[in-house]
Amino acid sequence: MRAQVGIIGAGPAGLLLSHLLHRAGIDSVVLEAKSRADIEATIRAAVLEQGTVDLLRASGVGERMVREGAVHRGVVLRFGGRSHRIDFADLTGGRAITLYPQHEIIKDLVAARLEAGGQILFEVTDVALHGIDDDAGAPAIHFRDAAGASHELACEFIAGCDGFHGVARAAIPAARRTEHSHDYPFGWFGILVEAPRSSDELIYARHARGFALVSTRSPTVQRLYLQCGPNDDVADWPDARIWDELHARLHTDDGWRLAEGRIFHKGVIAMRSFVCEPMQHGRLFLAGDAAHIVPPTGAKGLNLAVADVELLARALVDRIRAGRRELLDGYSARALRRVWRAQHFAWWMTSMLHRFSDDAFAERLQLAQLEQVTSSRAAAATLAESYVGAPLG
Ligand code: FAD
Ligand code: PHB
Repeated sequence: MRAQVGIIGAGPAGLLLSHLLHRAGIDSVVLEAKSRADIEATIRAAVLEQGTVDLLRASGVGERMVREGAVHRGVVLRFGGRSHRIDFADLTGGRAITLYPQHEIIKDLVAARLEAGGQILFEVTDVALHGIDDDAGAPAIHFRDAAGASHELACEFIAGCDGFHGVARAAIPAARRTEHSHDYPFGWFGILVEAPRSSDELIYARHARGFALVSTRSPTVQRLYLQCGPNDDVADWPDARIWDELHARLHTDDGWRLAEGRIFHKGVIAMRSFVCEPMQHGRLFLAGDAAHIVPPTGAKGLNLAVADVELLARALVDRIRAGRRELLDGYSARALRRVWRAQHFAWWMTSMLHRFSDDAFAERLQLAQLEQVTSSRAAAATLAESYVGAPLG
């Protein structure tokens, strides 16, 4: 088998890269460990920055997102029993976010690739990278297909888009990469609920019992999260406990009520910050969660994956079509500038909103920070700018 670019992973990073390369006349093969049904059903992110929305639209895969997604022009910070709105449109010159689930983006991208004759091989195993180390090498990916047969995919470049637990990052020799990592002493418990919306905008709540987040998927399906223990299991959280905690943490003094409903999905999400530097080695280029993880509090993970891929697609096109190497050589340095800005934002939001300990001093500092963000226009604008995201490129 042969392709100009071999792509490992059919998450948002790998699929969007394949789609953008195709639009520029470059062929690729995508290798995915899971089945199509699996990747199209995995519940993950939903907050899309303006730049992500603009790129999906401009590249012809935004039609359903525009029709079914919900544009949000602000978010609510809740603490001390009161709500404070951060008005994105006002603070960022009209920018906004769109709520549209990641697995719907996956469906749209898979459909677009297959319709265009693109190759996505699902349920592959034993993926191994070869010949990536130097620029003169002959890169290849060895793997087994769904039926167990061995293959070699020869390519000019390899994109490691295989998420945090993939194999691509580890193909960079340990001596040639630095991994920065930070764990948080808690997780998030996430649920999907059949219920009407309780709020027109997302609510990020800080409470002495821990963080809570009200998000949405549609007028009839809501997404709620609450801070939980780092090793908690779904079995630790019967429905009654979930509702008790959500009501307590989201309580306001103005009569607002959280609408309950049937919980039909529960899951625990680990909280971690991680960056691998550099994001490239020889003929291998990492994008998305393969290179970095942010805690979900800033809603940046999916958006960073898209931002990486926008840079990487342009750099590969410039190299393959025009023979210029500048953009590709500088890919990691350029991508990492945005990655570290997003790391800081996600860490800051996490620090401001979660319960870390019984330390009353730390609690007062959090409240002082929240007071500032909700009373100073300059501080609110800093949050809003980071949340809606800088333009891509
Ligand atoms: P992934 O989506 O992880 O895709 C990697 C793919 O590679 C997977 O399909 C995997 O099966 C495949 N793979 C792995 N190993 C191999 C292998 N050896 N061979 C072949 N294939 C392999 N981000 C936001 O921006 N906003 C949010 O609101 C948000 N909320 C989140 C909520 C939750 C509950 C979670 C878990 C994450 C959230 N994120 C959010 C993060 C976001 O979902 C990820 O950052 C995003 O999925 C990264 O995309 P990716 O393509 O880099 O990696
Ligand atoms: C979500 O809707 O899944 C979501 C929203 C905001 C976040 C994280 C996740 O910060």
